[in-house]
Amino acid sequence: MAIKLIPFSVCILYLSLNFRLAVTVCNIPKIYHGDWYSQEAGVDVKTNVAFDKWRRDSVPQEQLECVAIYTHPQQSSIIGGMNSSMINSTMLMSIFGETDVNKCYYCIDVLYRTPNIIQYKRQDCIRLNAGNPISIDKSCRGITEGLPTMDNAITMFRRSVVKLNCITTIEGVYQFSYEVGGTTSLGGICNEPRSRIEACQDPGSAYVDNRMFLMNYAKCRDVSTSVDQQIRYQCMGAWYAVKNGVGYTFAAVADTVEADERERFKCMMTLKDQKDPNNQIRWVMSRFPTCTSLNSIYDGDRKLVLTRVIPTTNYLPPQCVLPRNMSGTWFTQGQQFKSDVFINETHIAYKTKINEFELLETYYSCQQTQGTRYMMTRVTAGRCEVDFVCFDLMPRHHSVIRYRVGKPSRLSDEDTGNFMVKKFRETCSWMSFTYNRDETDWKYEVLILNPPTPVPCPIAGRFNFEQWPVRDSEKIATRIRGVTPRPRIQVDCRIIVSEIKSCPVDMNRISIDAEYCETVDYRGRPIGEYDVSDYDLTCVGFWMEDYKSYLITWDEEDAISNFRCWVYERLSWTDVMMSRSQNARCVPDQRADSFQIPGTGLALKLTESERLFDDCPQRFDPGLDPYRKPTIIYILNKSTAVTPSIIIISILSLLFTLIH
Ligand SMILES: *[C@@H]1O[C@H](CO)[C@@H](O)[C@H](O)[C@H]1NC(C)=O
Ligand SMILES: *[C@@H]1O[C@H](CO)[C@@H](O)[C@H](O)[C@H]1NC(C)=O
Ligand SMILES: *[C@@H]1O[C@H](CO)[C@@H](O)[C@H](O)[C@H]1NC(C)=O
Ligand SMILES: *[C@@H]1O[C@H](CO)[C@@H](O)[C@H](O)[C@H]1NC(C)=O
Repeated sequence: MAIKLIPFSVCILYLSLNFRLAVTVCNIPKIYHGDWYSQEAGVDVKTNVAFDKWRRDSVPQEQLECVAIYTHPQQSSIIGGMNSSMINSTMLMSIFGETDVNKCYYCIDVLYRTPNIIQYKRQDCIRLNAGNPISIDKSCRGITEGLPTMDNAITMFRRSVVKLNCITTIEGVYQFSYEVGGTTSLGGICNEPRSRIEACQDPGSAYVDNRMFLMNYAKCRDVSTSVDQQIRYQCMGAWYAVKNGVGYTFAAVADTVEADERERFKCMMTLKDQKDPNNQIRWVMSRFPTCTSLNSIYDGDRKLVLTRVIPTTNYLPPQCVLPRNMSGTWFTQGQQFKSDVFINETHIAYKTKINEFELLETYYSCQQTQGTRYMMTRVTAGRCEVDFVCFDLMPRHHSVIRYRVGKPSRLSDEDTGNFMVKKFRETCSWMSFTYNRDETDWKYEVLILNPPTPVPCPIAGRFNFEQWPVRDSEKIATRIRGVTPRPRIQVDCRIIVSEIKSCPVDMNRISIDAEYCETVDYRGRPIGEYDVSDYDLTCVGFWMEDYKSYLITWDEEDAISNFRCWVYERLSWTDVMMSRSQNARCVPDQRADSFQIPGTGLALKLTESERLFDDCPQRFDPGLDPYRKPTIIYILNKSTAVTPSIIIISILSLLFTLIH
């Protein structure tokens, strides 16, 4: 009977052991279930994860069974937000069916990365022995020492890829150069204009485009490792992880046609916000389905350098021309950014610096025109979208073009016969310029020729001024402007006044002196006549809009903004009020006396004070007709060299000669 008892006792031992380790059933998280591929020490491994089993199709095949599981607290660094099913865990497993008392237990740490990628690390066999009970909390290093890192975890790729949007991985249109080989490059860099990446998503589209991107490799004649090849990759998701102390964005992709799994899956790595002086983006890509070969953005099996390019479209060649006198280099100040604008006969190009390293390049190409409205195709380097927008360009005056841009309209597929006519009606209707029906308070945007051609200032004469700065830094104060043409004379000045003037000597300039010495010498000439003014503003353009007069000035030495916008207004025959904005853009509600509303900072009140020898007649132009030739000058007051008494005497003498 003893023979029958042995299995029974083994069974009791087995049960009691299991009971000690895990009271409840151990369920492997659902997100790990499925068929996976990984490459481990150069060998292909296929793993099937099911309800409580972890089966490896390696040689020899092995099947592990989950004994206990510990779920790690969630951290929030997964790209694309959190979801309660995304969990990291440590599992204690044993070989399925093994009844040996002295059997092996394994700790497996699993890092959830994306629905298609998990990474794991398996600890060596641990055995039950006297005085050393096995428990997940004490025996597993994933819990006692922390989860594995990118370097020591094995990456598993889901064999039947879950469909994911590419947006977290890559988006846009790029040209790229590539270099095959790790730190020891095998053949050099192939930089061909035909090598392109197209990762274009159609917002809201459920189509396949959103889950794939296209890499078009072009061959370089002098690079032996280069190839002519087109690969469509399916995105498997992206995640953020730290490697060598640096936080990188990793992504996994699957070749859509390759059947050999060893060649099918790739790991990619990049750095968000690369501070690249050339506005380029670096990626590295693995040769095999593993992430461990990627060490930095300069060290990987395949090094890619991406340059943003404009998308291809049939609507890029220009069909109409812009007014010829608009060609040139311009500057515009938007609400958030300022841009350099290049205009030639057919195109407008905006170059906007977003920060020190990022440059946004937008190109417009003229398609149709009517009157002052120009429908243009809009493309941005590195972006997929092709839009039509309408520009309403006022004729140029001075060094200024005023314009408006309408609501953009996306290029859609319906390319019917009168497509362009329809698009014109849609984008260039006057309604498309107002984003909101109730918003009647719109203003034209302003392009300023850069460097500007000076124009005669609309305000001339000599004035004293009173100022209202919003804070001290906005105040007009005396400053020493570098090397002066002549040394400042140390004079005993008894009358100091503020002075702002624009005289016929240089009609294009307004000089401002916060403290001007008005004391005169024995000849009646100012003793401080060699004084250098504190600010010299060059007038660039002026106009009237909505009954407000605007002036743009340029000051090379202005550290805040070379261009400034002013709102000015005449208060009486002798007084003028003007308000300075903080940059080249006047805020919509700015008035001539504004200095406290955001975007402004200083208001000046000018009071006429021309003296006998100044020869500085007053002139004022509200900008009603900025197209008028600037030769018309209104002289309101002028000191005359010929006195009326002389005229009377000469007339009288003439009469006398006639009588006689
Ligand atoms: C899993 O662990 C990794 C590495 O510690 C971490 O970056 C990631 O955020 C964790 N995932 C979750 C869902 O907490
Ligand atoms: C969490 O993610 C899984 C897998 O990606 C998905 O099936 C599930 O619907 C998500 N749940 C929520 C609440 O978003
Ligand atoms: C105008 O500028 C665009 C873009 O900068 C350029 O592609 C085009 O060749 C230029 N056209 C002419 C006539 O110079
Ligand atoms: C520019 O040309 C337009 C007509 O094409 C004309 O009305 C306007 O006065 C010109 N402006 C300048 C500053 O030459």
